[in-house]
Amino acid sequence: MREHLRVTDSYWLRTAPGPDHPVLSGDVDADVAVVGAGMAGLSTAHELARSGLRVVVLEAGRAAAGVTGHTTAKLTAQHTLVYDRLRRTRGPEGARLYARSQTEAIEHAAALVAELGIACEWETRDACTYVRDPERADGLRAEADAAREAGLPASFTTETGLPFPVAGAVRVTGQAQFHPLKYLRALTADLLARGGQVYEQTRVVGLTEGEPCRLATEAGHTVTARDVVVATHYPIFDRALLFSRLSPRRELVVAGPLGPGPDPEGMYITPEENTRSVRTAPYGADGQRLLVVTGEHFTPGTGDPAAGFDRLTAWAERHFPGVALEYAWATQDNASTDTVPLVGPLHPGARHAWVATGFGGWGLSGGIMAGLLLTALITGQTRPWQGLYDPRRLKSVLREAPSLLRTQAEVARHFVGDRLRPPGSVDDLAPGDGAVVRAGHERLAVHRDEEGELHAVSARCTHLGCLVAFNRAERAWECPCHGSRFDVDGSVIQGPAVRPLEQRDL
Ligand SMILES: Cc1cc2nc3c(=O)[nH]c(=O)nc-3n(C[C@H](O)[C@H](O)[C@H](O)COP(=O)(O)OP(=O)(O)OC[C@H]3O[C@@H](n4cnc5c(N)ncnc54)[C@H](O)[C@@H]3O)c2cc1C
Ligand code: FES
Repeated sequence: MREHLRVTDSYWLRTAPGPDHPVLSGDVDADVAVVGAGMAGLSTAHELARSGLRVVVLEAGRAAAGVTGHTTAKLTAQHTLVYDRLRRTRGPEGARLYARSQTEAIEHAAALVAELGIACEWETRDACTYVRDPERADGLRAEADAAREAGLPASFTTETGLPFPVAGAVRVTGQAQFHPLKYLRALTADLLARGGQVYEQTRVVGLTEGEPCRLATEAGHTVTARDVVVATHYPIFDRALLFSRLSPRRELVVAGPLGPGPDPEGMYITPEENTRSVRTAPYGADGQRLLVVTGEHFTPGTGDPAAGFDRLTAWAERHFPGVALEYAWATQDNASTDTVPLVGPLHPGARHAWVATGFGGWGLSGGIMAGLLLTALITGQTRPWQGLYDPRRLKSVLREAPSLLRTQAEVARHFVGDRLRPPGSVDDLAPGDGAVVRAGHERLAVHRDEEGELHAVSARCTHLGCLVAFNRAERAWECPCHGSRFDVDGSVIQGPAVRPLEQRDL
């Protein structure tokens, strides 16, 4: 990986670090407790507070510093190539409901930006999904047709603002891009002004459902609420085994000032080349633009992120000569097996526990949509698309079966297969590197720090026991099964695991 491009916090987090919120230091009660302060959790909390409910938000780390803080920040109802597939799997009405619900979410965000006067670099842009392979152009024609039928202002074109020719593109006009953290900081300020409470560094570890529900925090405090919303990205308290219908996908992002070249102006994405996504953003005071390029996805704990960063950097520099890439970060989203997010009751018997997950790379409009939908459900209203997103949907679960089996076969491979790999050795571990080694009956995850000292934790993921693997570029242990991530000291960076990897002596 290029020396000057160390993986760090995102451009968004660096330019809108946000205020600290207190750690929960006692018991508290509210109408609704929201677990997780990303786009889904904060949008839900804000909407509930606007409906007059008393809301408390509990965040394990820092607000908006999870996936939401590391996104590309396009707000569009065009989700790569979703409509042709939806038309086939959920029928034309399903595709229409999807388009309407996502469009309503974007319009809702635009209205909030205007109402609250939020300075979040909101820009209206066309969204384009493109391909360069002529053999895929017909697929894009079908997608344009399906998206139009679903009610979006979509058309097929070969003209884009990209600096290379394309074989075909679906253009959806009138979409948006913004600075997600500036938006969420303002939303959070409004939430607090409406009497909402936000607690950071407050990990939730237990849920007892009832009337009321009770949440337990790691520090031993109790939060009592009539309703609980689990917006932790990968769901926790997952009695319905939703995790088995989700697969995690990690992706890389590079960004830097665009330089003298022309601004491509739109928001672009292609499923080719292991995904390339492009947008620009305002940068500095003199009208410069920041180029943001995303791609090179992989299952957490597999692949070679450093090589991926090199490929992404080379691609950005080849197509945008003069760009000075300064930022590199990575994040992951999880996709449901039928590509539609899971938003609704946490499990079939749940009356006051709710979930929002499975956004498949589109959880900004999806998170806002979830906020509107969950608020409607919690306040006893209905929405035409609640069945589409209902996690209990059965027909589509049956259709999901092949995809579900593939996901589970992949998990089994990491559970059993990884255990059969020949043991590594710690002696030749370079500083900054890590490896899983056998020690008696156990596998240890061993990391050598920059001072040459070795640190060992159990290599068994505390979620369901798959073996973790080392991501050298980001210095983290990652679980390929459902994407839990752990720091080199074993502490949880990202769930569904809630407990750290156990410390071990070497
Ligand atoms: C590279 C990349 C680019 C993307 N670009 C776009 C885009 O352009 N447009 C778009 O719409 N979508 C995009 N997405 C997807 C989008 O960013 C995500 O779907 C969305 O941010 C997910 O929001 P969330 O609130 O569900 O999760 P998060 O933002 O991760 O929030 C979940 C929060 O829950 C907290 N939490 C977890 N466990 C606990 C616990 N036990 N107790 C308390 N808190 C807990 C976490 O710390 C975290 O802050 C992109 C995704 C990737 C990977
Ligand atoms: S994340 Fe599920 S076993 Fe590791």
